[in-house]
Amino acid sequence: MTEVVVSIKELEKEYLSGRVRIKVLNKINLEIRREFLAILGPSGCGKSTLLRILAGVEKPTKGTIEFHISSERPRIGFVFQFPTLIPWLTILENVALPLESAGIKPKEARDEARKYLSLVGLSGFENAYPHQLSGGMKQRVNITRALAIKPQILLLDEPFSNLDPLTAEALRAELLDIWLSGVAGVEAVVMVTHSIDEALFMADRIAILTPRPAEVRKVVEVNLPRPRNRRSPEFQKLEDYIYEFIS
Ligand SMILES: Nc1ncnc2c1ncn2[C@@H]1O[C@H](COP(=O)(O)OP(=O)(O)OP(=O)(O)O)[C@@H](O)[C@H]1O
Ligand SMILES: [Mg+2]
Repeated sequence: MTEVVVSIKELEKEYLSGRVRIKVLNKINLEIRREFLAILGPSGCGKSTLLRILAGVEKPTKGTIEFHISSERPRIGFVFQFPTLIPWLTILENVALPLESAGIKPKEARDEARKYLSLVGLSGFENAYPHQLSGGMKQRVNITRALAIKPQILLLDEPFSNLDPLTAEALRAELLDIWLSGVAGVEAVVMVTHSIDEALFMADRIAILTPRPAEVRKVVEVNLPRPRNRRSPEFQKLEDYIYEFIS
């Protein structure tokens, strides 16, 4: 399972702040395989920027991203760092919207949206509005919306960081189940996080970034069986090992 899905080569990003140039990404070289890849880095180092460039919503200053995917344009699902549900649309409409934008007829889009909502245990909430849902349910809807377009690549930007610990843990397990079962047809998951524990719990590999401007400092393979036991000596050993690269 070492097939490469995305090649990131010599990627750089600079922002212009007034007349000052701020370098955010510096010579990022990274191959994304058919895998669950975590991108771990300190706050403000450029993780979201990297994800936005991968999603194609922002352009790099230098470097290239190549997708080794059968379709002409990769389908990319994006779960943003901050909630992005549209408040005046129902849950069903929120999930169906990107499908309709992709050219699917409204009726089919809604059927599809319904199917995915049931996959994450949200049947019965189709007609609710975002403000009527808990934080955890909203984030479930965000994930569902990203999955419903059948993405080849799923990008997650700190998807669990604004949730209470119990809800976050339940959602991590659910997302892993969906990924491992293959039901959504996703080829690669890229999850940004600043939690070593979360990265170790979920990912096949962890790319550790330096503080800004972000460079890839180290890529660590997580060869631990799933479901992972945080209390196992192997888990804790890897945790200590990774800690050395981010402190
Ligand atoms: N559109 C922009 N214009 C100018 N500067 C920007 C822009 N977007 C991001 N930056 C700067 O780039 C740097 C990296 O931002 P980014 O959001 O990618 O970091 P991050 O690693 O995701 O941080 P966090 O962990 O806080 O989410 C920050 O210093 C930020 O101020
Ligand atoms: Mg961010």
